[in-house]
Amino acid sequence: MPIPARSVERAGVSILVFGDAGSAGRAAALRIQSTIHAAVAERGRAVLGLATGATPQKVYAHLVALHHDGELSFRDVVTYNLDEFYPIGPLDPKSYRSYMHRHLFSHVDLAPNHAHLLDGTVPERFVAEHCAGFDRWIAADGGLDLQLLGIGRNGHIGFNEPSALSVAEALALPTRLVELHPVTRSDAARDFGGVDQVIPRALTLGVAPILAARSILMLATGPHKADSVARALGGPMTAGLPASLLQSAAARVTWMLDEPAAAGLF
Ligand code: PGA
Repeated sequence: MPIPARSVERAGVSILVFGDAGSAGRAAALRIQSTIHAAVAERGRAVLGLATGATPQKVYAHLVALHHDGELSFRDVVTYNLDEFYPIGPLDPKSYRSYMHRHLFSHVDLAPNHAHLLDGTVPERFVAEHCAGFDRWIAADGGLDLQLLGIGRNGHIGFNEPSALSVAEALALPTRLVELHPVTRSDAARDFGGVDQVIPRALTLGVAPILAARSILMLATGPHKADSVARALGGPMTAGLPASLLQSAAARVTWMLDEPAAAGLF
């Protein structure tokens, strides 16, 4: 049964506004489930781009519940994660590899060799090659059927942080090693036990491979996201707010919001 939502359109972008964060998360999980079923029926497998952070935890909880209810299998699913701190070991509880294991991978029937994350242990001289390889693996898997995204308070997508680049340069950004923005570091402080403890660099899927996904699902909940959501949807495209670059792929993007995150749109 569809989850009740207000449907809004801004410049060709589909925006669904749900009564609360739980409903938005459940709707995102159902969209991922239907994408998996359609892609597996069509091509024998589904390729998902996954995100971490607080917002998608509800999505993963719903996907796990669907799996336990026998309504969703990950047997024919391949996953690629958006980002990872650098450097960090896979067993570090703060690594996104650990996060994915805790919230999804250990609870479903996804084959371990189908789950790809950027590797926070790659020696720095091999990082560029590792990142280019990650983009090639996605392409070799037929591209992403769906990229799940969150938005930072500074408008970042993945760890593509605000910058002074031109729009054309920002749209072409590949997967790479980046420095985290001060807002990102302060938002990560809670998980790291203080802003000075936050690992200051990360590997991130680039803007270009994110925008190449066949569909993009942006999930944002809570009043602290209202400003970046309103600017990403209502303002000009600018590298200063990377989520605004999603306007260039408007027809393939769905925004799922709760009422507080949508407050700046109306
Ligand atoms: P959050 O992060 O889900 O923890 O708010 C979103 C993001 O920074 O992309």
